[in-house]
This record gives sequence, structure tokens and C-alpha cells, in this order.
Amino acid sequence: IRVTFTAPDGQATTIEAEDGQSVMQAAVAHDIDGIVGECGGAMMCATCHCYVDAAWTARTGGPSPDEAEMLEGAAAEVDDRSRLSCQIRLGPGLYGLVVHLPEEQM
Ligand code: FES
Repeated sequence: IRVTFTAPDGQATTIEAEDGQSVMQAAVAHDIDGIVGECGGAMMCATCHCYVDAAWTARTGGPSPDEAEMLEGAAAEVDDRSRLSCQIRLGPGLYGLVVHLPEEQM
């Protein structure tokens, strides 16, 4: 599954993730700067905050209530494209997904 991460300075990195991985797992596996994933995907840290590209928000959907609550603890500004990347599961419907990285995670 191809995923592109865009850094705050506009630099884009495209990786090939495994089907079924979360966006956080894919980012960590490919050393993407800007996704930390401290809790390993347990929805306990908000260091995997990302902004889903506006063209993709309909397909990823929004955060669950628990996720939205955890997002309140994110270091960078949260907006209506904000998701915890550990809660976005990659599959064929998300081939080509683009997410934007926040300025900070801690
Ligand atoms: Fe901790 Fe996503 S990795 S909330």
C-alpha cells in the first residue's frame, strides 16, 4: 500500500506499507521523522498524530470518540483532519494515501 508522508516543510516521502499495517506502524518501519508512536498503537500517547490529506478524509473517516479524546493531548494543533495514525488501518481502499506530519509530537 503506497503512503506518502508530507513534512511541515513540504518534503514528501513515499513508502510501500504492508496491507493491514496501521499508518503509524508503516511510518515507524520506514523511519519517518515526525511519527513517534510511543505507546505502540494502544491509543495512549498521541505521538502518532497526523493530518489526513483533505482528498482522503472521506475514505479514512474521522476519529472514534476515544481517539478524539486522546487527540486533545496532541502536542501540535488539532484540526478536523487530525487522526491518530495508529488508528488508520491500511488496506486497498487507501492505496496512495497522503498524510501530513505535524510540527511536533511531544
Ligand atoms: Fe500512541 Fe497512536 S501510537 S496513540
